[in-house]
Amino acid sequence: MHLFLVGAGPVGLVTAVGFARLGHHVTVADIDPSRVAALSAGRSPIFEPGLEEALRAEKAAGRLEFTGNPEPPTGAAFSIVCVGTPTDASGPLSTGQVEAVVAGLLACAPPEHVVAVRSTLPVEGPDRLAGLVAARRGRGPCATVVTNPEFMREGAGLRDFEVPSRVVAGWLSPEDREAAQAVADLYAPLNAPTLVADARSVALIKLASNVFLATKIAFANELARVCDAVGADVDLVTTGVGMDERIGRAFLSAGPGIGGSCLPEQALALPLLSSRLGVPTPLIDAVSRSNVSHQQAVVARLGALLGRPLGGARVALLGLAFKAGTDDVRESPALALARELRAAGASVVGFDPRAGEPARRADPLLELAAGPLEAAEGAAAVVVATEWAEFRALDWAALRTRMQGDLVYDTRNVVDRQAVRAAGLRLEVLGRRA
Ligand SMILES: NC(=O)c1ccc[n+]([C@@H]2O[C@H](COP(=O)([O-])OP(=O)(O)OC[C@H]3O[C@@H](n4cnc5c(N)ncnc54)[C@H](O)[C@@H]3O)[C@@H](O)[C@H]2O)c1
Repeated sequence: MHLFLVGAGPVGLVTAVGFARLGHHVTVADIDPSRVAALSAGRSPIFEPGLEEALRAEKAAGRLEFTGNPEPPTGAAFSIVCVGTPTDASGPLSTGQVEAVVAGLLACAPPEHVVAVRSTLPVEGPDRLAGLVAARRGRGPCATVVTNPEFMREGAGLRDFEVPSRVVAGWLSPEDREAAQAVADLYAPLNAPTLVADARSVALIKLASNVFLATKIAFANELARVCDAVGADVDLVTTGVGMDERIGRAFLSAGPGIGGSCLPEQALALPLLSSRLGVPTPLIDAVSRSNVSHQQAVVARLGALLGRPLGGARVALLGLAFKAGTDDVRESPALALARELRAAGASVVGFDPRAGEPARRADPLLELAAGPLEAAEGAAAVVVATEWAEFRALDWAALRTRMQGDLVYDTRNVVDRQAVRAAGLRLEVLGRRA
């Protein structure tokens, strides 16, 4: 089948490759000509494990092509909309890009065409899409619009496309149920549990899933602080807690905070919705606050461990991406730590194996080092903020010779503890007995 996909960001590219691998012919459109040029030359504009190789393979097989043309090719039965829903002046999850693309598709696609919006929508998003459809139907029959949120993780996107936890599709009005089912059927070869429902419920499924995940992390982070205070180990605690299958161990992982483009944004979007509706949701409202207070607590803990004021101290931040396996720094806890540290008077120099440039763009005040050794130069402390595998096996003896102090604060529980100690460094691990 010929599919048209709009928006070649992380979600769009993974989705395009996923459908191409299922044997479909996918035409991907993006408004950014440099992105289209890079992709047409076989280069991925983002880092996602395996993505560039997969893009090249599918392109070579003739199943994937890139264009700046916003109109679906003749014969394409579905358009899949994967443009961004960033936080802007109107708040989190702005639907401006989505609405522009959907209105454009409604203007030119034939009535039998189905537009599936895969971008994350706020709960009122389906109503806005229904408004666009109603306006277009006033001028005659037009394409059907449905929703189809994704649940992929950055850094594991290709795998999550192929082994999805579930496939969910939403209809704007009950007569569109078949179109929503047809979109869900595109994923049928993946044999995933499937749910087709009204688009408002579907939008809430997506938001509630992410806010629940954020809650689990925030819970584990608060537990880590309790563990630090009582001398317990948060990994043992969460492992023991997670053995109860009603709770589960997944995502009950303590670290420097919640990050990425989804969880922090949606942990703000859901409370905003409930407050607008006048529905008290004190638990949901607290998740974001918990995350901010956690990042402040991590910096305060670092100051306490240093045993000297942070003012004037140089801190090396290893890892700037919001998690390993991506160059995405959106809402990265590492950048939040950098800001908190600077606010406390410290100077911060960061290094990331993949996300240096995106971090520089996101935080022009951040000093970037060429490698871990350069970052450690003159540092009172090294803070490990992203769980990159290469930080497990750093040359800690060499780092030690560059540092002014001797503290390594691992917020991700990633370093080789013996190697750090063997280098004569003092290791502290967030929430764990080092
Ligand atoms: N599951 C996850 O891990 C996850 C992660 C990130 C984002 N998301 C959600 O998925 C959606 C897409 O996110 P993303 O990070 O891939 O977005 P992004 O903003 O990084 O990329 C969107 C792409 O769409 C293009 N675009 C914008 N307007 C366009 C237009 N009118 N025509 C053609 N192209 C256009 C942009 O140039 C860009 O390449 C968002 O709703 C986001 O919230 C999910």
